[in-house]
Amino acid sequence: MLHHELEIQLKAVVAKIVPDADLASVLVRPCPDPKFGDYQSSALMAIAKARKMNPRQLATQVVEQLDVSRSCEKVEIAGPGFLNFRIKHTALNETLNKIAGADQLVEPAAKPKTYVIDFSSPNVAKPMHVGHIRSTGIGDAIQRVLRLLGHNVITDNHIGDWGTQFGILLVGWATASVSGEDIAEATDPIERLNFWYKELHAACSGDEGAVERLNQKLEGTNLQSSDNRFHQTSLQDWVRQELVRLQQGKGQQRQIWESIREISQKQFDEIYSRLGVKFDQTLGESFYNPQLAGVVEDLQKRGIARESEGAVAVFSDGSMPPKEDPFLVSRDGEWVPDPALIRKRDGGFNYMTTDLATIDYRLKTWSPDEIVYVVDDRQGPHFKKLFLTFARWQPDAAAKVKLRHVGFGKILGDDGKPFKTRSGDTVKLGDLLDEAEQRARKIVEEKNQSLSEAERREVARVVGIGAIKYADLAPNRQTDYVFSWDKMLAFQGNTAPYLQYAYTRIRSIFRKAAEDGIAVDAAVPIAATEPDELALAKHLLNFGLTLEYVVEDYRPNYLCSYLYELAGFYSRFYESCPVLKSDEPQRGSRLRLCELAGRILKQGLNALGIETLEQM
Ligand code: ARG
Repeated sequence: MLHHELEIQLKAVVAKIVPDADLASVLVRPCPDPKFGDYQSSALMAIAKARKMNPRQLATQVVEQLDVSRSCEKVEIAGPGFLNFRIKHTALNETLNKIAGADQLVEPAAKPKTYVIDFSSPNVAKPMHVGHIRSTGIGDAIQRVLRLLGHNVITDNHIGDWGTQFGILLVGWATASVSGEDIAEATDPIERLNFWYKELHAACSGDEGAVERLNQKLEGTNLQSSDNRFHQTSLQDWVRQELVRLQQGKGQQRQIWESIREISQKQFDEIYSRLGVKFDQTLGESFYNPQLAGVVEDLQKRGIARESEGAVAVFSDGSMPPKEDPFLVSRDGEWVPDPALIRKRDGGFNYMTTDLATIDYRLKTWSPDEIVYVVDDRQGPHFKKLFLTFARWQPDAAAKVKLRHVGFGKILGDDGKPFKTRSGDTVKLGDLLDEAEQRARKIVEEKNQSLSEAERREVARVVGIGAIKYADLAPNRQTDYVFSWDKMLAFQGNTAPYLQYAYTRIRSIFRKAAEDGIAVDAAVPIAATEPDELALAKHLLNFGLTLEYVVEDYRPNYLCSYLYELAGFYSRFYESCPVLKSDEPQRGSRLRLCELAGRILKQGLNALGIETLEQM
């Protein structure tokens, strides 16, 4: 909008004066301090420096030729060569009226792109835990913002539904069933699967107690071993056999695997529905099985992968400095190979192999401009290797797509260590959501006694889930943060409840207006004049721009800050500028300003996956 116009005009003048300047670097951004202006550009300093020009002189030349008088006051040159722009009130109001009058608050991207967003991606047979809120919430916010900007988005949940863990799970399932337990019919089948997984894992790792417990369960059943007793090694053999039978793809193992997937998907779906998260695709790792042998063969044929100690691996091609090369690690002061394994010694395939096949599939199926992986920062080295290997494997295809790992840090407890329950277990996501709703309910009940039971439940749900999501989105995604119920549920500060409450306050004006028989007249233009009114109006102008900043580096926290500031500007405006008590046309103008602020706050929260209420 206004800002884009300024940027285009500035680029044109720079191109005239410095024809070889990189115009992509000529940006206009909101001014960090409104004392100096509304928008600012720092581009001229870098351009001048690179050409040994005097930056202030260049700035003076640019300003002489730059005619932005329609929208701005006189452009000021500050410091070593900043350009500061101050928006004219006429242009501000005019633009705001355009935004308020359009169907969409956000102008769609001029050139929409296609994005595949790989996020959440939990592993089957395990309970979703608190850590999953990160990938799920950040990924969902990113996909929502991209869609809001008019891009074409395919969300894909890359479920971990294949791997060696199934050997253990299959033996666990069989043991449970001969001892009379039907996992599929249990009240909490995931808990039972996890229980059996742990038992067998312990037994296979040599825990004698666990071996003994298993032998007791199996005594007198048709699963008993030939010498009536299982030992660590015979258990390991059994696990291996089950896995091989599953891989051969027939019979009972396949059916049990299907059941385990179904049980897990049911759990995931329950959580996703509580979180309001949907996926276009759920293509788990197993979907790519038929492709894996071919991927390895092709990489070997092209000389990108080779055999090493019975396995197949991709090594460094020596094209990068060792420090940046993810295929090398430093050991005792020496760089040694840290290859990407793509086939194990036993013939099984790796996480990497599946991810290579996945990129290939996604490119062939959707031709995306970009694939975004929202995965824990600890997997950084995996993605570096993946992207480089893919570029060596399919250079032409790789040149057409951007592959991007969007990482994030950990959630910590009060003790600074990863967040756990009091007894030291991982916190299940379902339990966490329950607790959030319970705590929110208490707070809501204190605040407002007049709500009905159904309303209380709804407010508690929206506030509780919103609080958890927002607390996860508001910090820079790559810094670890401390989980705090008190902080996230507070009605003051940068929290979901504060913003949700601010929204209800905006909405309450309209209820009051309706009671007084005052209607919002869309024909009355917004005409901001007072300082606090202008400050709010200027902030509202930057909603679309903020969304663009969010997707530049996939940082939803920019949107959180923007909305938090919006609520602040709104309250200052509301304190100093009477709305319903002022006369027409000011009342009409202010009502429309309130309405726009409410719409932006609601849509902004929605872009973060957070619901709003009319009343709470
Ligand atoms: N299932 C994996 C895990 O839990 C995450 C998968 C992320 N996506 C991918 N394409 N590798 O660690």
